[in-house]
Amino acid sequence: MDATRKISNLALIGFMGTGKSSVGRLVADQLHFTFLDTDDVLVSRAGKSIAEFFAQEGEAAFREKECVLVQELVPRTRTVISTGGGLPVNPANLTSLKTHALVMCLWASPEKIWERVRGQNHRPLLHDPDAFSKIRALLAAREPFYRQADVLVNTEMRSLREVAHQVIHQFRLALSGHR
Ligand code: S3P
Repeated sequence: MDATRKISNLALIGFMGTGKSSVGRLVADQLHFTFLDTDDVLVSRAGKSIAEFFAQEGEAAFREKECVLVQELVPRTRTVISTGGGLPVNPANLTSLKTHALVMCLWASPEKIWERVRGQNHRPLLHDPDAFSKIRALLAAREPFYRQADVLVNTEMRSLREVAHQVIHQFRLALSGHR
């Protein structure tokens, strides 16, 4: 990684169900950083759930709000930013995050993701009669974007605590290379 990179924050990217929010909270707690979840901010700004947002205003409108929010994050410091699963598909978002954050991707196989999200109902993109095939196809399409993260962390065989531990370890390693 470029030694001149400024790393004031930690951004977690990755597919739905990889544990970004849960891991992000644990990591923020341990680093004494602020925790920010882009989905939570957008839900509270819109005054409606993501499912309602998608149904009433469409996915493109959601992506625009997401992009505006990413730009607002630039001045932040000491923040763990957990991002919505589709956010890094817009290259401008990843470019912007990398100006101030170390970007880590939490990774899992489609099978594992399906196991984790199948009982949940709040993600409009998974409201599909064949949600598993949808996960496989979306993940394959997004993989090139997720792979642009600075660090890839496999969550497959790890508990949330173990993933958080690994994330903190990688973050500290990256910071030590920047002193
Ligand atoms: C999305 C993921 C969701 C949320 C929205 C769209 C996606 O966030 O932003 O439902 O496109 O993958 P999580 O990854 O936190 O579930």
